[in-house]
Amino acid sequence: MSLERNRLDRFLSARLGINRRAVKPLLAAGRVSVDGVTARDCDLPVTAFSTIRLDAEVLQQRTARYLMLHKPAGLLSATSDPRQNTVLSLLPADERVGLHLAGRLDKFSTGLLLLSDDSRWTGTSAAPGAGIEKSYLVGVRDPIVPEAVDAFAAGMYFPFEDIHTQPAGLEILEPCLARVTLREGRYHQIKRMFGRFRNPVLSLHRERIGDLRLDPALSPGQYRPLTTEEAQSAVQCAAVGACPDPKATGAGA
Ligand code: URA
Repeated sequence: MSLERNRLDRFLSARLGINRRAVKPLLAAGRVSVDGVTARDCDLPVTAFSTIRLDAEVLQQRTARYLMLHKPAGLLSATSDPRQNTVLSLLPADERVGLHLAGRLDKFSTGLLLLSDDSRWTGTSAAPGAGIEKSYLVGVRDPIVPEAVDAFAAGMYFPFEDIHTQPAGLEILEPCLARVTLREGRYHQIKRMFGRFRNPVLSLHRERIGDLRLDPALSPGQYRPLTTEEAQSAVQCAAVGACPDPKATGAGA
């Protein structure tokens, strides 16, 4: 799913109430800019996020973008990487500009990822502290032992970071499938918690962050803008919503 695009001349013609032929001289005279750059091409693609000016007059103001994306397995949760494809490769190049991730998923995890170019929203997202609940469907190799429920609820000591994890929910849905609920995002947290029981995680899918559920209409790799209400709810989520790497490598592995 992509954000709706328009041609610049169509946009100007509709916005100014003039025909497309009358748009040409405005462009030729260098009177129109898109995102701060003088635009001369009639067919330049523009979206709702483009800031478009005629002389000093703002015809359309670029507004902050908030997106939900269904992360497929195999892409890095990062904005760039020299060797591997990132989730941003799912968006056309002009829509990637300025986007950040609010929280991460490991490379082979799937599910709900939030993106925005609003730094108020994503800027604090590395905070590992207590916060918004996130839920994951987790498939593991071996049947989950009942003692794991209490161990997740009690929290676990992670010597690498010298922290004790906060209480986490573990609901056993099937012998090898559980719903895990966290209020923090430690590096590989769920894998490491199941690792204590020598039970490797085979699949990990984030279904919810706070009140925001992954839209079931989105297939892996698809994304859509958040509605205004969703974005407001996400602003609260993002203040606490990341899965930071203590070694600060910048990407889930
Ligand atoms: N915990 C993990 O181990 N991986 C994720 O992607 C998210 C939480």
